Amino acid sequence: MKGIILAGGTGSRLYPITQAVCKQLMPIYDKPMIYYPLSTLILSGIREIAIITTPHDKTAFKNLLKDGSQLGCSFEYIEQKEPEGIAQAFVLTKDFIGLDSVCLILGDNIFYGGSIHELTKKCHQLDGGIIFSYKVKDPQRYGVVEVDNNGLAISIEEKPTKPKSKSAVAGLYFYDNEVVKIAKNVQKSTRGEYEITDINSYYLNQKKLKVIEMEKNTTWLDTGTIDSLFFAYNFIKNIEQRNSQKIGCIEEAAFEMGYIDETELTKLAKPLMKSGYGQYLLDLI
Ligand code: TTP
Repeated sequence: MKGIILAGGTGSRLYPITQAVCKQLMPIYDKPMIYYPLSTLILSGIREIAIITTPHDKTAFKNLLKDGSQLGCSFEYIEQKEPEGIAQAFVLTKDFIGLDSVCLILGDNIFYGGSIHELTKKCHQLDGGIIFSYKVKDPQRYGVVEVDNNGLAISIEEKPTKPKSKSAVAGLYFYDNEVVKIAKNVQKSTRGEYEITDINSYYLNQKKLKVIEMEKNTTWLDTGTIDSLFFAYNFIKNIEQRNSQKIGCIEEAAFEMGYIDETELTKLAKPLMKSGYGQYLLDLI
């Protein structure tokens, strides 16, 4: 199973903040935003990861995350010249995916709590697609999925005015290798983007789109607007201060998964001592 983090895009809902600074490098409390989706992939047992960025931000991501070997992983950086839509990710990463199946996570989505990582670990063997849904108050703002008694999707609509359910589609998708072929045939929508909904609709029509409803004790946050960004910031701050436990800590995730040992974790902690992040890592040992 390969992993993709979609960390390009425009970030226009955060302008002027993101006019010069990349959204996924902005802080959510004590770490850059991309640490959260990256730790989700690591805790899902995915070690080979492609990070899709704008040409402008590629160097900054490389400086931050390097080649991944320090975390027992391997990272590739792939440029998306223009933000032409989420589904384009599978065209850009065709060679990286090769013959494997793939998990795509949005670079501004945070998943925390419940048994989310136990669930994602079980998605490695799949025939078709698996998406995650979450019951929300305002489904009109999201992709909305309707599910049958067997957990298969029966309809998906993008931002419907009359939603058929309250289940929003979260930014975490697992697909078998066919996704590469499917994505190649997706046409641009009227808003000018290659839509992930078109890929999901293809699997849905084949009766191969499984939906896992996230438990109530799982938190899913999308940090793309000013209010949701600061909500996420405060949410992480409150939990971390109360539990003295970090969320989205990539070094801890790699250590927990056995990808790095105590010596390697200590090496990662050393340059981070002044912020307290390094001490947190040392305390894990
Ligand atoms: P969005 O939040 O839908 O788009 P955006 O980040 O460009 O923001 P805005 O709507 O405010 O202009 O994207 C979700 C995630 O996917 C986010 O991490 C950016 C990423 N993305 C890409 O990498 N390439 C793309 O072409 C698109 C549309 C999004």
